[in-house]
Amino acid sequence: MNLKGKKVILGITGGIAAYKIPLLVRMLKKAGAEVQVLLTPAAHEFVTPLTLATLSGNPALTNFSEGGEGVWNNHVELGMWADAMLIAPATANTIADLAHGNSSNLLLTVFLSARCPVIIAPAMDLDMYRHDSVRDNLETLRKRGTLIIPAESGELASGLSGEGRMAEPETLFAFLETTLLHGSRLTGKKILVTAGPTFEPIDAVRFIGNHSSGKMGFALANVLAEQGADVTLVYGPGSARDLDHRVKRIDVMTAAEMYTACVDCYPKMDAAILSAAVADFKPKNVAANKIKKEQGGISNIELEETQDILAALGKMKSPAQVLVGFALETDNEIANAKSKLERKNLDFIVMNSLRDTGAGFGTATNRISIFTKDGKTHNFDLKPKREVASDIAEILYSYLKK
Ligand code: CTP
Repeated sequence: MNLKGKKVILGITGGIAAYKIPLLVRMLKKAGAEVQVLLTPAAHEFVTPLTLATLSGNPALTNFSEGGEGVWNNHVELGMWADAMLIAPATANTIADLAHGNSSNLLLTVFLSARCPVIIAPAMDLDMYRHDSVRDNLETLRKRGTLIIPAESGELASGLSGEGRMAEPETLFAFLETTLLHGSRLTGKKILVTAGPTFEPIDAVRFIGNHSSGKMGFALANVLAEQGADVTLVYGPGSARDLDHRVKRIDVMTAAEMYTACVDCYPKMDAAILSAAVADFKPKNVAANKIKKEQGGISNIELEETQDILAALGKMKSPAQVLVGFALETDNEIANAKSKLERKNLDFIVMNSLRDTGAGFGTATNRISIFTKDGKTHNFDLKPKREVASDIAEILYSYLKK
């Protein structure tokens, strides 16, 4: 994509993942962007200013006065110059500084002066990343509008394995690209997203549920919000994290609660994407108290169908509204997905197969195919859920324009 004329500040802090940033500088330069690199003093331990200056074509700055006698690197000017600022890797220390408004180095002062969208990509060891103080600081920043590219899971420099690894340069590039090119293309559009599982009570303590985490729906809600949409997320009891602060979140437990929330708000929406794994069946009778073994326990549970939310919205849908469903299939995938598309009056359907490794419940990646009502098929590779969400957003955008 063409980033010609787009101005990017890349802030690098003192984490081992800094060694990946020169690659990102290359990608941005290749796409035509102007890049200004800022380093904290600690970042010099991990990557050299010379490398970054050579690749970016601009002096890589750390201090207020460098680059010649009498030169003053004006943080206010830098903050106003940029179209986007990305701090990657963002260490726990810098995240704390950002959250508390500290201004003890050039990078921190530019953050405070920036008028553009600011994105941070945390990178640290797993125990640091899940520490309450780090989580609180990230939450503070998120609430104030800083965009966060969540750390990924994998092998860490410490030798441990878990969440804390900085997202790959390709992901950082894609995020910047969305912010720079599509930051407002969905402004004014109201979009409903459903995500997560539903839990259908059996008695006071037990329920029927499923393994959905809600990660795909969170990624969708985030990508749409980043493009300026006014997103409402109706969310069942999943385990997904890191929702964009701009998304309005309605928490529900059961299919019936999700149905009510969706049917209530759909008339005001321009589009809805239903990615939730809604229970298709629920216990017919729910015991008010816990069913005890001595009372005979549970040998049978009589089930009845839940309401089909997607089908209900398909019936309510006006010609201007866009409706998107998901299909998670194990057999006759394509035929089933296409028949769902028609039966439920959808504009397009996103199919993922439980047969694909790396796709489906709880995974960080997904492989999808999209079938549209105009008879088109789009097949995509296995990708991180965020990139899958961008692909879906792209097709949604083409329908909202029609
Ligand atoms: N869905 C819904 N309400 C339900 C069940 C499903 O809105 N009670 C939505 C899901 O969010 C998804 C789509 O319907 O977008 C497909 O769900 P799936 O369970 O695969 O399909 P069903 O329509 O239930 O069809 P079948 O059971 O025949 O596969």
